[in-house]
Amino acid sequence: MRASQVFIVFITLALAIPFGITYDPSPLQDFCVANKNLNNGVFVNGKFCKDPKQVKAEDFFYSGLNVAGDTNNDVKSNVTTVNVENLPGLNTMGISLVRIDYAPYGQNPPHTHPRGTEILVLIEGTLYVGFVSSNQDNNRLFTKILHPGDVFVFPIGMIHFQVNIGKTPAVAFAGLSSQNAGVITIANTVFGSKPPINPEFLAQAFQLDANIVKDLEAKFASNN
Ligand SMILES: *[C@@H]1O[C@H](CO)[C@@H](O)[C@H](O)[C@H]1NC(C)=O
Repeated sequence: MRASQVFIVFITLALAIPFGITYDPSPLQDFCVANKNLNNGVFVNGKFCKDPKQVKAEDFFYSGLNVAGDTNNDVKSNVTTVNVENLPGLNTMGISLVRIDYAPYGQNPPHTHPRGTEILVLIEGTLYVGFVSSNQDNNRLFTKILHPGDVFVFPIGMIHFQVNIGKTPAVAFAGLSSQNAGVITIANTVFGSKPPINPEFLAQAFQLDANIVKDLEAKFASNN
């Protein structure tokens, strides 16, 4: 290898290693089960650990993901989340899980997870899924039609969605690379903020009539 190649390899490693360890903290012990009793007044980047001697199997256990969420809502879908909030053993582990139910022609509307990449497996039904890349990548749309057993990845931070294009209910499960991946639903966030963003500003941003923005804001204010 020439000196310049060695230098490039060195720089690549030097840049990659810190990026690789900057997400959910890597455990410095076997586990750090979230302590639910210490939730007032003091904040840490994550949750406090329960005394390991008090930790039980229940701390690593969740039950109920066999039950469909109620899809009787405007978007006809329901996400059941298993993360550090309801499974304390996930604390510091950098992983979580969701079940998503879709009524026929229901959808999980455009949203993004600020802290997690998502890997989804379809169990039942037919989904049209996709994500849009960032401005730097020219906002390209990547889509696929999924059938049972198909898997799709939504890279961290990308706006993505799933639509049930079948006549029957659909069920998917997805893993996320964070104990607390977060969700930003685009329509609710932009049109349903409290207080609302000035409708004139959004009219210009979205190239819409201000009255349409006001209608949207009224709708999402009541939905949220
Ligand atoms: C999702 O389903 C659960 C359980 O049936 C229900 O409590 C919740 O209100 C539903 N959420 C939405 C947004 O419909």
